[in-house]
Amino acid sequence: MKNTNYTIEKARPEDQTAIKSLIREARLDITDIRWQKFLVARIEKSPRTVLGCIQMKIYPGLKELASLVVGPAYRGQGIGQALVHRLLNDHLMTPRQDHNHNNRDHSIYLLCPQYRQSFYEQFHFKPVSLADHLPWLLVLRYLPARLLGPLLFKIQIIAMCWDKDSYLSQHTKSALTEH
Ligand SMILES: CC(C)(COP(=O)(O)OP(=O)(O)OC[C@H]1O[C@@H](n2cnc3c(N)ncnc32)[C@H](O)[C@@H]1OP(=O)(O)O)[C@@H](O)C(=O)NCCC(=O)NCCS
Repeated sequence: MKNTNYTIEKARPEDQTAIKSLIREARLDITDIRWQKFLVARIEKSPRTVLGCIQMKIYPGLKELASLVVGPAYRGQGIGQALVHRLLNDHLMTPRQDHNHNNRDHSIYLLCPQYRQSFYEQFHFKPVSLADHLPWLLVLRYLPARLLGPLLFKIQIIAMCWDKDSYLSQHTKSALTEH
């Protein structure tokens, strides 16, 4: 297995094309792609080369981890995991922003194919269902995906919610800053 030296940092305007092509090639949702929300992984010696990306979509009362892609040539080296840890770490370090919602800490959700469940469980995401009183904005995204996923792509789409306390109990603050 290759061992690529890479860095993870906030996306820059010039990364837009690379981000879009990673997302298109992976056949992920191409709506709501604004470079300002993205983190990218770059090759250390060739910083223009974006080899992976992830974003946090922010809605009223809800955050969604989305658009996680690592280029096929660079998979299996821990880059996807590092992108997720960094996004969660940045979230933990960000002051709460939405004062219209009693300064509550927003839950982080994601939608993914069922076969990715174990990948996200390692970051303490837990599957949730419609019976769990999901935020309506998530339901609006989840229902069409749940219905159309099996029909169009023959995959089951699930929703997962981040268990922050459980994550923090495993990853101490010092460990978090290493990602
Ligand atoms: C998902 C993806 C981002 C992973 O990127 P990556 O850099 O290969 O990820 P990592 O090397 O950090 O780890 C991946 C591997 O973790 C392993 N893994 C899964 N569950 C695990 C667990 N509980 N604990 C540890 N490792 C686990 C798997 O082997 C997984 O690879 P695989 O599912 O592709 O076989 C990449 O495969 C990709 O871009 N896929 C296409 C787009 C996509 O599906 N995005 C996710 C949308 S929900």
